[in-house]
Amino acid sequence: MSSISTRHLLGIKQINEKDIQLIFETADNFKTVINRPIKKVPSLRDITIANLFFENSTRTRVSFELAEKRLSADVVNFSSSSSSVSKGETLIDTVKNILSMKVDMVVMRHPKPGAHMFLSKHIDAQIINAGDGTHEHPTQALLDAYSIREKLGDVAGKKVVIVGDILHSRVALSNILCLQKLGAEVMVCGPTTLIPKYIHELGVKVEYNLQKALNWCDVANMLRIQLERQDIKYFPSLREYSLQYGLTLDMLNSLNKEITIMHPGPINRGVEITSEVADSEHSIILQQVENGVAVRMAVMYLLAGQVSGVQ
Ligand code: CP
Repeated sequence: MSSISTRHLLGIKQINEKDIQLIFETADNFKTVINRPIKKVPSLRDITIANLFFENSTRTRVSFELAEKRLSADVVNFSSSSSSVSKGETLIDTVKNILSMKVDMVVMRHPKPGAHMFLSKHIDAQIINAGDGTHEHPTQALLDAYSIREKLGDVAGKKVVIVGDILHSRVALSNILCLQKLGAEVMVCGPTTLIPKYIHELGVKVEYNLQKALNWCDVANMLRIQLERQDIKYFPSLREYSLQYGLTLDMLNSLNKEITIMHPGPINRGVEITSEVADSEHSIILQQVENGVAVRMAVMYLLAGQVSGVQ
């Protein structure tokens, strides 16, 4: 069997197309498993995984924990709000203390970009990035691309627009890198203030008009406005933003083709997307969440096999 080329999953930047295809093929098998009456396999029975969340999460945290339990791993959960981090402990001390209890793999979400790369130089355990600040969210990009492949048959050659707060979004960067490695064309769309100045260097198209972006694409991935990461005002009001960049059913109905609508969650209904669109047949938002479990099972299974020969 092929193996993944990396010891950690720090970002999409560090993996190649072959790794991504291997993750998808492995996730296909796990998707079958989690739809069976008995949803568990013994693959990671001897592995202990710590989920370290230094930032809030619903989907990613629950999805990783379910994926770990479906693989029969031993799981320990940690969240910074109820820990000794608030007493001044450093990241390395916190993680080293947890690892001294014989943990093999760390799934971490952290508000600082690069926290995972830093940690990987100081600890022996394998690390999976579950989101680092505004930088990368690799498993979200993998599950997004997997969901496009499932819906449209392939990712190569597809046109994907990522709409909204590109500047503060780790989902945007990981999606751009992942979709390009798989041969898709990528466009970003949003207000000028929320599009990074040097985005062209990533080889993406830029469009400031949502209707034109929708006319161009096969898939629109609608991002949340990350107010918690914005220290200044980037647009006059949420109402103004939603008038310019909120996706409505009327817009979709005005197109002379079907497009697929995605959202990584959490959704701000009525801001970046109306409820009518989020709950419509155009949307694959809940399929993305379902696929997240199979994709994360695949990532952890392949990484564990990389160091211990898990079959
Ligand atoms: N998509 C995503 O990362 O959601 P959470 O913040 O709820 O994990």
